[in-house]
Amino acid sequence: MVDRSGTPLVELRDISIAFGGVKAVDHVSVDLFPGEVVGLLGHNGAGKSTLIKCLSGAYRQDTGDVYINGEKATINNPRDARRYNIETIYQTLALADNLDAASNLFLGREIVTPLGLVDESAMEAETRKVMGRLNPNFRKFNAPVSALSGGQRQSVAIARAVYFNARILIMDEPTAALGPAETQMVAEIIQELKKQGIGIFLIDHDVHSVKRLCDRAAVMKNGELVGVVDVDKVSTDDILAMIIAGKKPEHLAA
Ligand SMILES: Nc1ncnc2c1ncn2[C@@H]1O[C@H](COP(=O)(O)OP(=O)(O)OP(=O)(O)O)[C@@H](O)[C@H]1O
Ligand SMILES: [Mg+2]
Repeated sequence: MVDRSGTPLVELRDISIAFGGVKAVDHVSVDLFPGEVVGLLGHNGAGKSTLIKCLSGAYRQDTGDVYINGEKATINNPRDARRYNIETIYQTLALADNLDAASNLFLGREIVTPLGLVDESAMEAETRKVMGRLNPNFRKFNAPVSALSGGQRQSVAIARAVYFNARILIMDEPTAALGPAETQMVAEIIQELKKQGIGIFLIDHDVHSVKRLCDRAAVMKNGELVGVVDVDKVSTDDILAMIIAGKKPEHLAA
């Protein structure tokens, strides 16, 4: 069980953002605690990505505030977000296909020797260390990531975020393109991240994977927050009803 008695890692308070006349996000408040996974659900265009982009620094909200560890945060760009230990793993993963895991992990932030040369062996040693914790079965340290499976690629992207001290992770449909075994592997990595106290916002269209991977589910519709529920207290049908009808089921309505 996640302890939600302390200060949230993230509080999105009353966030609104409009594009032209469209209210993409309309007065939404959601929080996230250390070691917690909060799933974001809703139809296409519900506002999930836009909401999360206010946290990752891709967009600046029109109104509302972001609090990190109880303090108001100023996040105007992705660099600001990184300073708050927020890392985003996009669906496209943004890996360099022709490079191996270590080169991807350190892409743009390479370890260099005192002489200024890229220190390949130090980078590989560090990569083996992180992977040993996250995905102990990972063996393909010397293959280009194009030769990895979808799940292995996902683990490289996660390793990169974690290595650079992510405390808050945003994942956009991490299991969408994966088979059952790979999905299981990502589920295990998420469990490991939770143990380390990392908080995760997970965008997912599949209510079953949200039930399995998340502690709470936040449902959005037409830019508004329908509700946030504890996944252990609801059925997948309850969550589906929130997505489709746009309101909390009777027995949950506060
Ligand atoms: N940069 C933008 N310019 C104009 N409109 C935008 C922009 N980004 C998002 N929107 C609009 O805001 C609304 C919310 O979009 P958003 O991408 O947040 O939805 P979503 O819930 O992530 O959907 P999906 O499940 O399809 O990814 C949509 O109506 C979309 O067309
Ligand atoms: Mg989206």
